[in-house]
Amino acid sequence: MQSRRPRATTHSRRQFLNRSAALAAGAILAPAILLPGCRRSLPVSPDDEFSGTVLRAGRFTAAPDGRSREVWGYNGRLPGPVLRVKEGDTLRVKVVNDLGDVPTSVHWHGMHQPGTWQMDGVEDVSRSPIPAGSEFVYEFQATPAGTHWYHSHVGVQYGNGLFGPLIVEEATPIAAYGRDEIVFLTDWFLQPCDTLLAGILKGMDMKMPEKKEMKSMKDLGDVPFQSALINGKGRMAGDTTSPPATLEVKKGETVRLRLINGSSTYALRFRIDGHPLTVIASDGAPVQPVTVDNLVVNIGERFDVLLKADQDGAHWVRAATLDGKEGRAILRYAGDPASAPEATPAQWGERTLTPEAMRSRSPVALGEKPREMALELGGSMTPYRWSINEQLYPKSDPIVLEKGEAVRFHFRNPTGMDHPFHLHGHYFHVLGKPGALNLKDPAQKDTVNVPAKEELVIQWQATNPGRWFFHCHIEWHLATGMARVIEIKPY
Ligand code: C2O
Ligand code: CU
Repeated sequence: MQSRRPRATTHSRRQFLNRSAALAAGAILAPAILLPGCRRSLPVSPDDEFSGTVLRAGRFTAAPDGRSREVWGYNGRLPGPVLRVKEGDTLRVKVVNDLGDVPTSVHWHGMHQPGTWQMDGVEDVSRSPIPAGSEFVYEFQATPAGTHWYHSHVGVQYGNGLFGPLIVEEATPIAAYGRDEIVFLTDWFLQPCDTLLAGILKGMDMKMPEKKEMKSMKDLGDVPFQSALINGKGRMAGDTTSPPATLEVKKGETVRLRLINGSSTYALRFRIDGHPLTVIASDGAPVQPVTVDNLVVNIGERFDVLLKADQDGAHWVRAATLDGKEGRAILRYAGDPASAPEATPAQWGERTLTPEAMRSRSPVALGEKPREMALELGGSMTPYRWSINEQLYPKSDPIVLEKGEAVRFHFRNPTGMDHPFHLHGHYFHVLGKPGALNLKDPAQKDTVNVPAKEELVIQWQATNPGRWFFHCHIEWHLATGMARVIEIKPY
């Protein structure tokens, strides 16, 4: 993944340091210790020597679900390349904007960016985006450990394919397992996201479509489901030729699956036929292990689960919307003939992961007397828009906090849709529903689903000064107002 360009002319001090870094660290790591003055990224011209990873955002044609379309992706891949580093290392990534005529940015979803909020990649919140034809070097400390991802944070770009996995390996292992596998889940559409958004804005402002269709659209997703991809592969209904992704396992091994939902529209229920899964972490943070048959991964969420390969043959790996529209991959034991498992309907099993079952593995210290804030979620179809306390981003007040303040957010969601909320730069604790708060060992997360018609309380401490983003991760909700800037002072 490393890209270094030879350069014959004189070397600056920085280039010398960069080269030493490349020699010392090999692949994509910059040294953990950088000299002052080298800490910040400097503008990089194309013939500069560069010791890091390069993500080239560009357009290419691919048929991930059997239907050919223009994909926007990194390095010609879908999902983008795996970035893998060790906890605490410095990650240096040059992002080249080859998209042609639009600006772009990369957000490192899950990275807390201590002291580097300008590297967070949110359009016009962290810094202005990378103009078409130019490039920018992101540089930050890889923390916290765990399963994370990266994606464009400009407009509704990421749903076109501008996403990929970011793995930060723990310094101390959190479980016993042999190896890991990334399972990147996404919904997928034939049309570009700008077209989908324009369609939503227009369609919702016109007459109600046929009632039944409207119901499922309103409840589960604003764009009718087309297909779901697992590691960039899927199959549009009716297509029988598009090859599914395959996970190979050896009988007897325990594999850590790193589940990521990088969708624009749909929560996805995950299951591997005949194999229970033991959840060990969410959004990177270790949880007390829970064994389930299936679990829902909301948009932006990550779960680390242990899979015990104790059977034979081939089994379906399923990722389905909450009303059962499915994408599939195959789990195949080494030595099994390469035929697909039988086409059986999904059996989801009895045990699913409930929010209450998610408990922190490390001791929890909630700040005393948190400042209480009520967040009322709202939505309207005509015109189509989504709000927090009746304000629409970008015309919304920032939430201003002092460094060190403890805050408790009370969500109230009277709308008919779930809203997976993501906080940048911090973890929060998920306390639960009012009246039944877990103040003892609430799990830490950075993305949590606020279910339709329910209330939810989270609490966190504003430890990381800067300008951060806080929003529903459904692309269409973010794009039409369901977001706030959180300013933590002084920054
Ligand atoms: Cu996954 Cu504000 O982002
Ligand atoms: Cu939402």
